[in-house]
Amino acid sequence: MSARVTAMLRDLEERGDASRESLAFLLSATGEEMAALLAAGDRARAAAAGDEVHLRALIEFSNHCRRDCRYCGLRRDHRALRRYRMSPEEIVDASRNAAAVGFGTVVLQSGEEPHYSADLLADTVRAIKVQCDAAITLSIGERPEADYRVLREAGADRFLLRMETSSPALYRRLHPDSDWRQRLACLESLRRLGYQVGSGVMIGLPGQSAEMLAEDLLFLRSLDLDMIGVGPFIPHPATPLAGSASGALDLSLRFIACLRLLCPEALIPATTALDALHPRGRLLALRVGADVLMPDVTPARYQEHYQLYPGRPGASGGPAASRAWAEAAVVSLGRRVALGYGHTRRGRVASHA
Ligand code: 5AD
Repeated sequence: MSARVTAMLRDLEERGDASRESLAFLLSATGEEMAALLAAGDRARAAAAGDEVHLRALIEFSNHCRRDCRYCGLRRDHRALRRYRMSPEEIVDASRNAAAVGFGTVVLQSGEEPHYSADLLADTVRAIKVQCDAAITLSIGERPEADYRVLREAGADRFLLRMETSSPALYRRLHPDSDWRQRLACLESLRRLGYQVGSGVMIGLPGQSAEMLAEDLLFLRSLDLDMIGVGPFIPHPATPLAGSASGALDLSLRFIACLRLLCPEALIPATTALDALHPRGRLLALRVGADVLMPDVTPARYQEHYQLYPGRPGASGGPAASRAWAEAAVVSLGRRVALGYGHTRRGRVASHA
């Protein structure tokens, strides 16, 4: 291994520090240098997060979307997609079923969907909180701050809103109808309102260089996030990016290892998009820095229509089967499933300081 890479890894492990140039270099590492990076990511995970893997039950409650993002299979212009909306009762039922088999968090995700008013969603959040012993994460896109406030007051604990890229120029090319700065302002609102906040980027987007990905890493660190979800770009055949190459598995794993080294405390999921590239993609991520799994527990009749990208692993055996799969996967890695809600570990560190 070169002295240069040894020094870079030492700076990262000991001080969580790296320049954009070093990160771009590490993101392209191969052979034993790549192996050393991935091992360092896993050590940083063990030191800061321990051996517990947190499970989140993902409920994709609507695939309607008013946006036309060029990579996404749920984009408005994908007219052939069968659209669905779960009723509030169905959402509460699905949450109850997930909590009953031991998921400590439900993640409610949808396209950007004005159909569900903030008040309707707030009622749903309150019903879940009354009926289930689970934390609630929302992943419903950009909304006015007033909506975020109503939902927070109703009991939502966390919010996921990926920035997708740190480059406003690349963002503009991919999102014909949204604005990077406005999205960043949403994250700031969410933080002010007391949510635990998650964001992330896609890896291997068309037009994204190693330098841009290095910048993404530093950008994500600068956002001071509780949760950071990243995954490879997977071209969807019914989108304008159908002919583009996928993000690569190895690059994604190197990115996750760097992320863990830069943000040791963050909750980092092994995201589903990795499974589109490799049958054990998510497990590989858990071995290089990730510490969260988010099995899909959307009712089977809807799940097949939530096609962000092709090759999403189906998990239509219901929440008990998803829970059992996740537990077996975690145990096969010599780790254990975390009990409880799996809240952010950032506050904990501050309060003990
Ligand atoms: N490939 C990979 N990830 C995608 N997402 C949407 N479309 C794709 C795709 N084609 C991701 C985005 C979004 C999250 C819900 O799914 O990052 O924020």
